[in-house]
Amino acid sequence: MHKIAVIGGDGTGPEVTVEAEKVLAAAAKSCGFTYESIRFDFGGDRYLRTGEVLPASAVEEMRAFDAILLGAIGHPDVKPGILEKGILLHLRFELDLYINLRPVKLYPGVDTPLKDKGPEHIDFVVVRENTEGLYAGVGGFLKKGTPDEVAVQESVNTRRGVERCLRYAFDYTRARNRTRTLTLVGKTNVLTYAFDLWERTFHEVGAADYPDIKRDYAHVDATCMWMVKNPEWFDVIVTDNMFGDIITDLGAMIQGGMGIAAGGNINPQTVSMFEPIGGSAPKYTGQGVINPMAAIAACQMMLAHLGEKEAAERVDRAIATVLSTKLKSMAAGRMGYSTSQVGDLVADAVAKG
Ligand code: IPM
Ligand code: MN
Repeated sequence: MHKIAVIGGDGTGPEVTVEAEKVLAAAAKSCGFTYESIRFDFGGDRYLRTGEVLPASAVEEMRAFDAILLGAIGHPDVKPGILEKGILLHLRFELDLYINLRPVKLYPGVDTPLKDKGPEHIDFVVVRENTEGLYAGVGGFLKKGTPDEVAVQESVNTRRGVERCLRYAFDYTRARNRTRTLTLVGKTNVLTYAFDLWERTFHEVGAADYPDIKRDYAHVDATCMWMVKNPEWFDVIVTDNMFGDIITDLGAMIQGGMGIAAGGNINPQTVSMFEPIGGSAPKYTGQGVINPMAAIAACQMMLAHLGEKEAAERVDRAIATVLSTKLKSMAAGRMGYSTSQVGDLVADAVAKG
């Protein structure tokens, strides 16, 4: 029995998680596994009502689950940063979700802005370190508010943190078994401390324990270029937190946009959290026009993570079928179906296998 916490969150988050749960129910029925899901009301509305971003017990409560399905965080009446830091980043850090896994896959029938590129060219995965780097919050101000003000924000890279991320990426590349190539993305020509550690660890760990995996390296700026020009060159990319944040938004665009992009915040040993990476799209709230595919894709990743391989494959096929035969567009209001109809279409396709 899988225990799943559902945090709908803000804006259209709750609507899209309802559709993801519909697909989860269809997968459970078809594949014969059981689960229990409990909803939590964390998000901007709760914060405005109670003054508390997350209840003190939230992190401990989440530890009792096998996975968390998150809708979206971000409320127009709450200053940017409060909910992101207080909920999303807090859960990532406190639950030590040290991997941010972001598949960049163009499904058939989905438009990419890349000219002359199709599903056969755009199919790679980014493994982003999720608990260190510039996100560690190390730094501070000096003489704040004066003309002499100094702001320092440091990138923290620990051997342990870097190594566990690299090992996850090597294992993932091996299991994915495509071209068996892992590309380290960094900036070794300028960030000569941080990426020296990354590069040394990469080759040391790779040579010792993953001789079957090809090791490649690209600077982050060049990576942005290749992702547009030759995305077919990539199999699995591993990178630090900040670079990973940036290149995965580029990845989302080449795979068809925020309507389809999903990610996992993973700790292989404990609870992990899956989310559509788009925002809460407040202007579409409650209209039934938002595309729930990204949340459904997050659910698909969650199933794979929970070890429900058959269910994950079924949901993946169902997403592909609905995208290639039904949806007119990925954009909110232009899909040709309502949010809940899209959920029904995918759930039906799951049931049919
Ligand atoms: C992401 C988001 C978050 C990040 C924000 C909302 C804090 O952009 O998941 O990529 O920067 O990691
Ligand atoms: Mn981001």
